[in-house]
Amino acid sequence: MVLLDGKKLADELKAEIKKQVDAIKETGGKTPHLAAILVGNDGGSLTYVGHKVKACEQVGFKSTLLHFQDTSVTEDFILNEVKKLNENSDVDGFIVQLPLPKHINADKVIMSINPKKDVDGFHPVNVGKMTLGLPAYISATPYGITKILERYNIETAGKHCVVIGRSNIVGRPMSILMSGQSNTGNATVTVCHSRTKNLKEITLQADIIIAALGKPEFLTADMVKEGAVVIDVGTTRVTDSTAKNGWRLKGDVKFNEVAPKCSAITPVPGGVGPMTVVSLLLNTLKAARHEV
Ligand code: GUN
Repeated sequence: MVLLDGKKLADELKAEIKKQVDAIKETGGKTPHLAAILVGNDGGSLTYVGHKVKACEQVGFKSTLLHFQDTSVTEDFILNEVKKLNENSDVDGFIVQLPLPKHINADKVIMSINPKKDVDGFHPVNVGKMTLGLPAYISATPYGITKILERYNIETAGKHCVVIGRSNIVGRPMSILMSGQSNTGNATVTVCHSRTKNLKEITLQADIIIAALGKPEFLTADMVKEGAVVIDVGTTRVTDSTAKNGWRLKGDVKFNEVAPKCSAITPVPGGVGPMTVVSLLLNTLKAARHEV
């Protein structure tokens, strides 16, 4: 069984990005600049955005965090902040951390982002281009997963890939990428979700399983074929009094019993998570170079 070490791969990719940023700076080019809008104080969002800002520092990017702690900010206020970032020529790309407070229409906010600066790849223009196989920002988690498949030489062509979960951020784009024509695509894809019947019958046919439903330890050994590749996208915080913060991350896969059956598997933490952050950096570098 191969442990797909996302942390190690992310460190390697960050070193590669840093070299490119150093070269840009040495030749007098502009430092890539990522900005983030964060509303409120949700623990998960604070952690994720913190990781993104730290990763920017590590590779030599400039970063700006616009943190509005008051969750009663209006939709118009956020739309105006997006407008300012769209117009700020020093900012190459930016993200609006989700979820937003319920009274703010997240779809409306995403649609107001200039697609050329949408390094999260959430805008319909980028989703559409990605679907058509055109150059686009691919949302960070699916992009990170394709990098894991690529770097670990996991064969995807002709394989049956079962994606569990159909979110706009992970499951849906992942299913499109896996069936697309690329070196990490060409798979036969089945998308399963909360209304799927006989889920186990389907997952047992899978050569590759991508679990992205957000239910801790949902995928158990009896649902997995011998030799399958398992990618665990789950990052649920569960209470753990022995952990430093009083919680720890749990994936969607019951790792201890599933791992022995797999040819390759990602751990949680240290699998998909670190690759998501690096993918955002890769997208920001593309934005700085006007490649999309
Ligand atoms: N919330 C959970 N994942 C993400 C992500 O990749 N980007 C943003 N902006 N918000 C998220």
